[in-house]
Amino acid sequence: MNLHPLIIHLPLGTLLLAVLFQYLSDINRYHGLKPALPWLFGTGAVTAVLSCASGWWLASGGEYDADTLFWHRWLGILTALAATGCVFFPRKSLSALMALALVCAGHYGGTLTHGSNYLTPKPATEMKRPADPGLADIYRDIVSVILSEKCVSCHGSGKQKGGLRLDSHAGILRGGDSGAVILSGQPEQSELIRRCKLPEGHEEHMPPKGKPALTAAEIEILEWWVSQGAPVNLNMQEASPAPAIRKLVDQWSNNNGEKAPETVIIPDENPAAASPALISRLKRAGASVTPVSSTSNWQRVSLVNLPQPADSVFILLKELSPQLLTLDLGRCSIPASSYGLLNSFTQLRILSLAGTNITDAQMSAVSSMEQLRVLNLSGTGVTAAGLQTLNSLTNLRTVYLDRTGIRLADCPVLPGTRFDSGGYMLPALASDTARLTGAEK
Ligand code: HEC
Repeated sequence: MNLHPLIIHLPLGTLLLAVLFQYLSDINRYHGLKPALPWLFGTGAVTAVLSCASGWWLASGGEYDADTLFWHRWLGILTALAATGCVFFPRKSLSALMALALVCAGHYGGTLTHGSNYLTPKPATEMKRPADPGLADIYRDIVSVILSEKCVSCHGSGKQKGGLRLDSHAGILRGGDSGAVILSGQPEQSELIRRCKLPEGHEEHMPPKGKPALTAAEIEILEWWVSQGAPVNLNMQEASPAPAIRKLVDQWSNNNGEKAPETVIIPDENPAAASPALISRLKRAGASVTPVSSTSNWQRVSLVNLPQPADSVFILLKELSPQLLTLDLGRCSIPASSYGLLNSFTQLRILSLAGTNITDAQMSAVSSMEQLRVLNLSGTGVTAAGLQTLNSLTNLRTVYLDRTGIRLADCPVLPGTRFDSGGYMLPALASDTARLTGAEK
């Protein structure tokens, strides 16, 4: 177990407090603090020694930048020695030296874990996606941007997990501890591609659990680059990729670092206002209707208080369809006859059908929602076959499939669309005595 990041905070707090008390205790009013000093320095020294030991052990994993590690290690040891000294010889000069070593060791520690720019974090998207993908250099403007967004935090100058650096072309070619990670021209034989394509729960999946995964489009772009021989200094025009690849790259570059699709929803154009009479009829029927912002005519509707909505509600919603931007039907039992009406909701950006009675047979109801960005099908009876109807939805970004039993591997490959199956289960440890399985959850 790696205790270093936990223990390290104990000497940090205690020792700085000890130094503060030491200076304060010179002032008459605070003279009473003096007896606490040996205790504070003592606790600080013991925990500092423990930090050194746990740190030494962690560093033996050997995935850190050597120079930074050198300074962090020896400044940490100096801190522990000086703190021990302060217990017996509480000189101010010694404690000042200790405090300085402590702060510097902390700084190098921060650099080790968070990278050299951790004080002024620049989002990884500082590496801009290309404005004109048609002329983009495939490695410099596309591949390295994808890797810097999703991989370089662990495979860059700060950390080299698995002995691998992905922040330069040479680093990629050099490979990692287990050898080459790409075989030029053979994406299916390339470790880098293989790991990204593993199911998200797999322990070798890259990036590891909890980090934003590559989108299907990004994986396809990387595969294509490897299949072209992983070139450096080749631009899109010279490579003249197949139209499908060109389209993926266009979409990817337009989607400039867009993170949560749920947040970029309100379209620029404002529709004509819905009639107030229509809105009040919907409200009287039990729907919650709210404008998405105070200056917008777009509406957000939820039937959360209407578990058994009647057909008439969907007929009213159809009238509101030019303004209907997000719709939450979560846990409603939707009348079979109303599914056909959903087809008229062509402006809809977010639709939740979580826990509703929808099955594959009704999935065609969403197939004409051309603007749809987010679709929640969690806890429904929809199967992988039903997802085929989503092929036509080119704007779709995220589909939630929690508790449907659908495996990501069975989802259709839709460029730009991410399927999220939830099921965020921790791997079982040998020491676990009880283990939840999916079915018991
Ligand atoms: C949160 C940190 C983290 C991120 C982000 C991350 N990796 Fe890794 N990667 C690791 C660790 C840890 C290992 C070593 C353990 C292992 O082999 O699974 C590793 C190993 C690898 C290896 C095997 C290297 C070898 O030779 O053994 C490859 C290939 C790889 N990563 C590719 C990627 C790619 C591609 C991305 C971005 C899509 C990525 N990683 C993002 C942590 C990360």
